[in-house]
Amino acid sequence: MNTIDAETLRSWLEEGRQVIVLDVRSAADRASWAIPGSLHVDAYAELKAHNAHALDGVSLPADVPVVTVCNSGYTSQIASKQLKARGIEAHSLEGGMQAWSLSWNTAEVPLSGSSARVIQIRRVGKGCLSYLIGSQDKAMVIDAALRPEVYLDLAQSRGWSIVAVLDTHIHADHLSRSRVLAERSGATVYLPNQERVSYPFTALRDGSTIKVGAVALTAMQTPGHTLESMSYLLDRQALFTGDTLFLQGVGRPDLHASAEETQEHAHLLYQTLQHLLALPEDTLILPGHSNTPMPFDKIPLTASLSDLRNQVKLLQLSESEFVETLVARIPPVPPNHERIIELNQAGRLIENPIELEAGANHCAIS
Ligand SMILES: [Fe+2]
Repeated sequence: MNTIDAETLRSWLEEGRQVIVLDVRSAADRASWAIPGSLHVDAYAELKAHNAHALDGVSLPADVPVVTVCNSGYTSQIASKQLKARGIEAHSLEGGMQAWSLSWNTAEVPLSGSSARVIQIRRVGKGCLSYLIGSQDKAMVIDAALRPEVYLDLAQSRGWSIVAVLDTHIHADHLSRSRVLAERSGATVYLPNQERVSYPFTALRDGSTIKVGAVALTAMQTPGHTLESMSYLLDRQALFTGDTLFLQGVGRPDLHASAEETQEHAHLLYQTLQHLLALPEDTLILPGHSNTPMPFDKIPLTASLSDLRNQVKLLQLSESEFVETLVARIPPVPPNHERIIELNQAGRLIENPIELEAGANHCAIS
């Protein structure tokens, strides 16, 4: 059987190689998450029924390889067989969209007033954004959400050794890989000061500064999404906001909280955002998530604070309007969030996190 794994497809897309990704899932499955640029044919039921003509209506060039994709990699094999019978070079994506959830790409963030280099690492099948910040021969990582080798290899290829790993908060939608990355790299783990995490870490308080190479990262307490949430300001230029402020919205205030606490968190988030809005207009905002799949386009997901002030309508509301709107718009609770929080507090990873972390991200309210 001619299959390829998610890492191979990832590297083909990152290299810009010519390939057609053919998504054969149902329209409903595709609606929740898809590989950017992929073609879609709603042939799932027909393929499962082994209808030999399921893909007859799909016209494909004969000289471009095709990768067929379904939910878990079985139906896509039927599809690739049918395409091969038509003389097309076809491969089925092993593990389907489930395996794709660990896929990633990178984009460099241009910074004018800092000597740091910032690489945005996007977990494309899930929406998590992490950051590798390098200066001289050292680097730090914020919100590691992928296996440690991804960060270690990216750092090594630039001549950096990772000396600090940080999380913006205790995540509820994915397992933090910060502890394991620190173990692999010998780096120090820095976390916002709180009493929930039970493994050793260095606590950051409002105003704490970490110096790496020639650059400084300053912690800002930004409670609201969660009580311990912090944002990190790099050389007064770029602000890593975690799940506090996104390009299209703000963080949800309800996870791991009662209805009453949700109200309190929403008020705190309003105060936090006022505090952030007082930073210079040209501060570059680098969020912890995106709610749309990121193409392999090398374009970083970022915006200036002044752009966000116009773009994110919630930022224009009064405190009472903000709290009322936020509470009214709370999205569905992510399926396994309590278990994920528990593992993140214990600093534990599980062997196969794909199922636990399944599903698109729902951390934002817009
Ligand atoms: Fe979060």
